[in-house]
Amino acid sequence: MSSLLITGATLADGTHADLAVVDGLFVDPAEAPQGATRIDADGLLALPGLVDSHTHLREPGREDAETIASGTLAAARGGYTCVHAMANTDPVTDTAEAAEFVADLGRRQGHCEVRPVGAITKGLAGEELAELGLMAKSSAGVRVFSDDGRCVSDPLLMRRALTYVLPFDGVIAQHNQDARLAGPGACAHESELSGRLGLGGWPAVAESIIVARDVQLAELCKSRLHVCHVSTAESVEVIRWAKKRGIRVTAEATPHHLLLDTSLLEHYDTTFKVNPPLRTNEHIEAVREALADGTIDMVGTDHAPHAPQDKDHPFDVALPGMLGLEQALGVVMDVMINTGRMDWATLVQRMSVAPAAYGRVASQGRPIAVGEPANLVLVDPSARGVVDRAQGASIAKNNPYHGRNLPDPVIATVWAGRVTYQRGT
Ligand code: DOR
Ligand code: ZN
Repeated sequence: MSSLLITGATLADGTHADLAVVDGLFVDPAEAPQGATRIDADGLLALPGLVDSHTHLREPGREDAETIASGTLAAARGGYTCVHAMANTDPVTDTAEAAEFVADLGRRQGHCEVRPVGAITKGLAGEELAELGLMAKSSAGVRVFSDDGRCVSDPLLMRRALTYVLPFDGVIAQHNQDARLAGPGACAHESELSGRLGLGGWPAVAESIIVARDVQLAELCKSRLHVCHVSTAESVEVIRWAKKRGIRVTAEATPHHLLLDTSLLEHYDTTFKVNPPLRTNEHIEAVREALADGTIDMVGTDHAPHAPQDKDHPFDVALPGMLGLEQALGVVMDVMINTGRMDWATLVQRMSVAPAAYGRVASQGRPIAVGEPANLVLVDPSARGVVDRAQGASIAKNNPYHGRNLPDPVIATVWAGRVTYQRGT
């Protein structure tokens, strides 16, 4: 029987508490056994374990970039107790067997809960629906479906997917980039800068046009739509409109779209190549405001590990994507909490409660209270440090925060009653 006694913690609402954990559940501290492992949490915040709506783990297929073990260790170090593992692996998670394979590896090797996301279309080809129903019925219990990395461009296929998942309460998560509005080498936010650098541009409208189309399809089908990695002011406006109409839409923002801007492309460093691309300040401000007011429901990291041989290319050829799990909480703190835009209770909603509800993960996003599953992160709100990509748990090192001074808040993470990370040990 594993047991913990965490003393003197402060909860998100500002109250102080001792917390005891026995066999994966919070219990009354008076019932903590004598031999319980003690953690002194004086001066630390105890928050529910974070849940990531959007993680790329690369296993199976690209274990040279990330594995389920390494990616979930990065998650634990970032304060996460659950991640949604995206389907763009090799093979693609487009069958019940593939989803069960990921879920099973997660159970055996994961440092947090791993919820497989199923592909919307077979092989992510955008042509034919994948086995959505079988993935939902499988022991993996898939609830989220996404071709992430690729946009489902065909509106009829999108309508069919939204209709198909309705009976089992599935959600269709769209990667919103209409490639037909960009040239073949598009790799940067379309702006004066992309022109000067000679980089093909993604116009902002290539995102919002898909969001506008899909929220209307979701309304038509009365189904659930999730807007991945919102990066433009216009997308925010569309989502605000859709929510006002009662359309069943949720949305996520990435840490990088909250902090980093397109000027980082100036020196063609492919670490900063990502889809959707880093934008300008007016877009960044709109995304921050939307995350504060709840138009954007949650933070999703879009943690996207890439091996050096896939990044060491000319900018237009390198693969898009950047790491996110280990610095996500620090970035959100600096952008949202330390600027007074958001309080801790709201951060818990955006980084734990909402993403757990999105994926229907019953054991996550729960309050820290007696009888609840013991998933938590201990946070030192004042700790900071300079990010060193070499210190990361991910196998890949494409960390866009390398060299930046950021909050370094995670002191310990507890998943299902087990300590999955503790600083200094
Ligand atoms: O930049 C990205 N990389 N955006 C995505 O949506 C997918 C991801 C990846 O899988 O590398
Ligand atoms: Zn995506």
